[in-house]
Amino acid sequence: MKGKFVTFEGGEGSGKGTIIRLLKEHFKKKKVSSVFTEEPGGTREGLAIRKVLLNKKHHFDALTDVLLFIAARRKNTNNIILPALKKGLWVVCDRYYDSTYVYEGFAGHIKLELIKKLHELARIKIKPDVTFYLDVLPEVGLARATKRNKVAKSMELRFDEKGLKFHNKVRKGYLTMAKKEPSRYVVVDTENNTIEQVFTIILQELNKRFSFPL
Ligand code: TMP
Repeated sequence: MKGKFVTFEGGEGSGKGTIIRLLKEHFKKKKVSSVFTEEPGGTREGLAIRKVLLNKKHHFDALTDVLLFIAARRKNTNNIILPALKKGLWVVCDRYYDSTYVYEGFAGHIKLELIKKLHELARIKIKPDVTFYLDVLPEVGLARATKRNKVAKSMELRFDEKGLKFHNKVRKGYLTMAKKEPSRYVVVDTENNTIEQVFTIILQELNKRFSFPL
């Protein structure tokens, strides 16, 4: 079974973190070689950029955000994702370029064409084999995220705190992207399904597409 590039997308409080943790355990249990990474992050340098980008005391316009996310993505792509795929490993990435199209494009009003051009300039050319979009109404997701953030006392809240209007545009953006690329995108309702049900849907989809072991 040759490796595939799987990405997860979702708004705040979509359950993405929990699902990715469960998937990591499943890969281990089934002894499937894999690399799990995240954006922004994935490398030491990417994590440093993450801290700069997400700090709620920092202010950047949306175009600067795009440039910084792409800088972290270039490092993650070249140092982690591509080498792993070349070795035939599965790569699971928590967010990839869809996040930039949606957060900075659809919600931040940077032209999608410009975002595409900037990725080309950064020589980021790979495309996920499948993208799971974990869908939740922003009202519900933000309430979950606020609860979690209070416990974690995180400073990485610049995007969480952008307000409901912004997060409604994020959701609309994802649903538009999913409609444009129905064969790559799998939309999973995380509001009316339990975490276990969401996880089962994802495993079955991976199994159907790539004979991934259940
Ligand atoms: P996370 O909390 O899921 O790791 O994501 C960090 C935040 O960064 C999240 O609010 C979405 C945002 N983001 C963008 O705006 N553009 C991007 O390209 C990426 C990767 C994340």
